[in-house]
Amino acid sequence: METKNKRLESMREQKHEVISTEERIKSGINGLDPLINGGLIRNSVTVVYGSPGAGKSVFCTEFLREGLKQGEKVFYVSLEQDLDSFLREADSLGFAEFRKQLNSNFIFTRMTGHDFKSFLSVELPKILEARKGKQSRIVIDPLTPFLWEIRDPALQRNILSDTFNMLHAFGTSVVTIERYGDLNKMEFSEELAIPLYLSDTVILMSIVYDRNFYKKTITVIKMRFSSHSSDIHSLEITSNGIKVFENKPAF
Ligand SMILES: Nc1ncnc2c1ncn2[C@@H]1O[C@H](COP(=O)(O)OP(=O)(O)OP(=O)(O)O)[C@@H](O)[C@H]1O
Ligand SMILES: [Mg+2]
Repeated sequence: METKNKRLESMREQKHEVISTEERIKSGINGLDPLINGGLIRNSVTVVYGSPGAGKSVFCTEFLREGLKQGEKVFYVSLEQDLDSFLREADSLGFAEFRKQLNSNFIFTRMTGHDFKSFLSVELPKILEARKGKQSRIVIDPLTPFLWEIRDPALQRNILSDTFNMLHAFGTSVVTIERYGDLNKMEFSEELAIPLYLSDTVILMSIVYDRNFYKKTITVIKMRFSSHSSDIHSLEITSNGIKVFENKPAF
């Protein structure tokens, strides 16, 4: 019995060691890092999914801004928005760094046309490879048009697996996916299954109806190597960006 307990204890210690040795980087989101063992795992892929307007793009912008503050190279890969609209949003949040560092440390790439498959598997690796250098952050916002284009699960899995492996090798990434419907029900629709499975971290951003008003929330659904918070946390977005209420579960 004692031997068994000792073994369990040693397994726990080893697990703890795995958790603590993963290198963390600051997410750049006010209030999030204490919920995720101090920050995002370096060279990991995080999927942020949720309702339209829940704050996914603001999350991405703040994640990249933190990179610029640290002197890193940051990439915003848009499958929808153009550069002008991105910069105007960044301005509205008081983030002048993006304009100042455009084409030096801040690289903006917009997918044009409709061939998302070839964009992800051919063009994006070339773009990133050509700019390989110091520590990088990459955002793909949103991945949704690709998921709609490639419905075949085997093909989607192959392409996403290659894309995520490339992202792992290149830097720390955040990928967003729009999701509609009742997010309180933990139903993972088919279109979410593969990216959520392949990612290291999954964060849900939601807008929920609560006693006559709509409330923004954030929940860490999955994070490899981490004992993360599982609460649904309240979140506020103001002209200063996102504030996650660490000690205030939404319900
Ligand atoms: N400068 C700002 N000041 C105050 N609130 C802001 C500001 N910018 C964004 N917001 C808030 O963030 C919301 C939009 O967030 P964001 O664009 O990140 O959502 P999203 O999840 O990316 O939505 P979509 O799915 O439509 O792309 C706005 O509806 C508003 O509530
Ligand atoms: Mg968005």
